[in-house]
Amino acid sequence: MLTLLALLQDGRFHSGEALGAALGISRAAVWKQLQEFEKSFGLSVHRVRGRGYCLPNPIILLDREKLLDNPGDWVPHVVDCVDSTNAEAFRRLEGGAAPAFFVLAERQTAGRGRRGRTWVSPFAENIYYSLLLRIEGGAGQLDGMSLVVGLAVLGALREQGISGAGLKWPNDVLVSGRKIAGILLEMIGDPADVCHVVVGIGVNVNMRDVESVDQPWTSMRNELGELVDRNAFIKSLNAYLFRYLAIHKNQGFQALRASWEAAHLWQGRDVRLTAAAQHVDGQVLGVDVRGALRLLVDGVEHQYSGGELSLRLRDDS
Ligand code: BTN
Repeated sequence: MLTLLALLQDGRFHSGEALGAALGISRAAVWKQLQEFEKSFGLSVHRVRGRGYCLPNPIILLDREKLLDNPGDWVPHVVDCVDSTNAEAFRRLEGGAAPAFFVLAERQTAGRGRRGRTWVSPFAENIYYSLLLRIEGGAGQLDGMSLVVGLAVLGALREQGISGAGLKWPNDVLVSGRKIAGILLEMIGDPADVCHVVVGIGVNVNMRDVESVDQPWTSMRNELGELVDRNAFIKSLNAYLFRYLAIHKNQGFQALRASWEAAHLWQGRDVRLTAAAQHVDGQVLGVDVRGALRLLVDGVEHQYSGGELSLRLRDDS
């Protein structure tokens, strides 16, 4: 379906005749398909008489072939459009796909964020990635895993030159207070025995002007000033995930706790932790061996964990 866009992704002009010949369709059919893309994907296509068509904002489409070679031999599943790659990963598991595998989409229509939020997922701009893993030995194996995934995302971002990135408990990745990546782990199966976890990662890669995001955000392109090759970034992300998840599996979160705290942007800061209508104010001491947040509240240390918690800097911090 995206073959026509693949031909146009270099940002150069291509005649309707050449495009039609490459796809074995008429010039009129080329025009019709491009109008469809504009309507459904919000893409803008320039049409100039005598020169043909071009994309004024070049894109780099996901390329499954380039992602086959990865250190975990994880199988890539690449789709054009899906509600949520996390949901799709679970559907594929139920349909018989063997773990470990990862699902990538060019677009999500119902991308899921933490605490019931929507993850804005425009076509061909960002990374919507879900890695499906089988977990043996009970859900305790997942302790600290989402924080470890944050370290892996951070490693891949830093490797691409995003030097100012850091982590915010539990697993936001920020640059100058703006969100560049988010992580959502979901689990199915028997928490006491064999279960499956989907590691959902959204990274703002080439997004530049989306209004519907309800929090301060940035993207790799905004930080670096150039179009980023999503396939190269996913390769790097796979390598970091493989490395960090292996340490976590073999040695537990404890082995990565110091690295995580070193990357935590809010170590020592005065914060407000909120759950539904309740909140607690305290100073961040760090995280414990299970990845729970350690807060000093009225001179006493408390630990907090749970997916519904939200952390904010105190106004006077
Ligand atoms: C957050 O709120 O910070 C977590 C966002 C996680 C978004 C990613 S995009 C890929 C995967 N599929 C989803 O539906 N959500 C995650």
